Amino acid sequence: MPVPGPGYSITVRLEAPPSASAAGDLTSAVGRAGGVITAFDVVESHNDRVVIDLTCNALSANHAKDITDTLETLPGIVVRKVSDRTFLVHLGGKIEISSKVPLRNRDDLSRAYTPGVARVCEAIAKNPDDARRLTIKRNTVAVVTDGSAVLGLGNLGPAAALPVMEGKAALFKKFAGVDAWPVCLDTQDTEEIIRAVELIAPVYGGINLEDISAPRCFEIEARLREKLDIPVFHDDQHGTAIVVVAALRNALRVVGKDIKDCRITVCGVGAAGSAIIRLLQAQTPGDIIAVDVDGIVHRDRPGLDANLKSIASSTNKDNQSGRLHDALVGSDVFIGVSAPNLFGAEQVATMAKDAIVFALANPDPEIDPMEAQQHAAVVATGRSDFPNQINNVLAFPGVFRGLLDAHAKTITDAMLLAAAEAIADVVDGDRLNASFIVPSVFDNTVAPAVAEAVRKAAAS
Ligand SMILES: NC(=O)c1ccc[n+]([C@@H]2O[C@H](COP(=O)([O-])OP(=O)(O)OC[C@H]3O[C@@H](n4cnc5c(N)ncnc54)[C@H](O)[C@@H]3O)[C@@H](O)[C@H]2O)c1
Repeated sequence: MPVPGPGYSITVRLEAPPSASAAGDLTSAVGRAGGVITAFDVVESHNDRVVIDLTCNALSANHAKDITDTLETLPGIVVRKVSDRTFLVHLGGKIEISSKVPLRNRDDLSRAYTPGVARVCEAIAKNPDDARRLTIKRNTVAVVTDGSAVLGLGNLGPAAALPVMEGKAALFKKFAGVDAWPVCLDTQDTEEIIRAVELIAPVYGGINLEDISAPRCFEIEARLREKLDIPVFHDDQHGTAIVVVAALRNALRVVGKDIKDCRITVCGVGAAGSAIIRLLQAQTPGDIIAVDVDGIVHRDRPGLDANLKSIASSTNKDNQSGRLHDALVGSDVFIGVSAPNLFGAEQVATMAKDAIVFALANPDPEIDPMEAQQHAAVVATGRSDFPNQINNVLAFPGVFRGLLDAHAKTITDAMLLAAAEAIADVVDGDRLNASFIVPSVFDNTVAPAVAEAVRKAAAS
């Protein structure tokens, strides 16, 4: 059951009579309309009226409008203006460039820019590796998208993807001190994307691919990894896989099972699901059953593309066919990165004892977590309003911090697994329980631990 949250938060500036009951009337009206008040500020006071900023959380844009309409119907109330606080945060963009060096006088200028900079250029021309020492390449990552799979919203194009990429850049900086810059490409042609990234690569120490739809994302990443001498990491694939593997490691500790004995159903074999399956395979689980919109992936299923063929050949030992509900029977673990509301409590009841359910489709999971809890021992979702949020923020800042610090030229499965172990290990035995299998995204020990693990894995 969704609750009003800060994603739909409005500030209503209104005029009210200066009566003793005005505040009560306003707050009751918001409550009746289902909103949650988070701030009530008197911004002007006059003999005949007060001006109030009333801030509240709503369920949706329509709900925010309903709340405003309700306030407008109160006697003596005049709504002056409604501000959507989410849009306010985005006004003019969320990130900026600032200079790290003083530029106060001619002396500063001569060293930071011409003529002094010329000698630095020549040094790099002579020894290109010096770019990592003498330029922003040392600490800078490109967040590259074509806008073809923006969040769960689909193909919105490069301009509409920019708010997400800016947010990602802000998270890189906050959690790991990495300078990331959005690169939203106005093409969805695989060859053009590869060429564009190749051409901009000299500036960056790493490439974070983002919100590029499957199956193109697989080829784009693989080809860029071949061509570039910096790590290329598609976060929707590997960031998710790292956090899922970390969470599963701890969930299995809670229920006392070994992954080698587990049957794991992975629903969704797109960007996230494929990477999750591949990283899980590095830990040799009992068996993995992959399921997509056409049912269980098996070797005899007609029409498999290259990605599904490779998944079919390395999963599903008994070559089982059928639908998701068939796959769930006897499974120890369900991992969903697919679509909303695919099953209910009765299917969880068919899973093995002490089942683990990660229902990660956003914003609505494959099963209502409250229903899943009726039969599962551990439940996780992608949502911030339930325990055990599987969130890529736990992985990508630390991963790139480690890669940049190691001057890594590639990224390997060993580094991804090291990152997953580091995230899992942040939750020590004293804190581990069914409602706490992953650390909070605000735990500032996570990114340094992940960075250290990736650095070590890169060095070995
Ligand atoms: N919580 C997280 O950390 C996290 C991370 C990554 C992705 N996700 C979520 O996972 C979902 C998939 O993301 P993606 O980038 O891999 O998308 P994608 O489009 O690349 O893949 C979607 C997959 O789901 C399958 N699918 C769709 N409808 C289905 C159905 N009714 N039954 C079974 N399978 C079905 C498709 O066949 C496909 O294999 C999205 O909702 C996304 O928000 C969550």
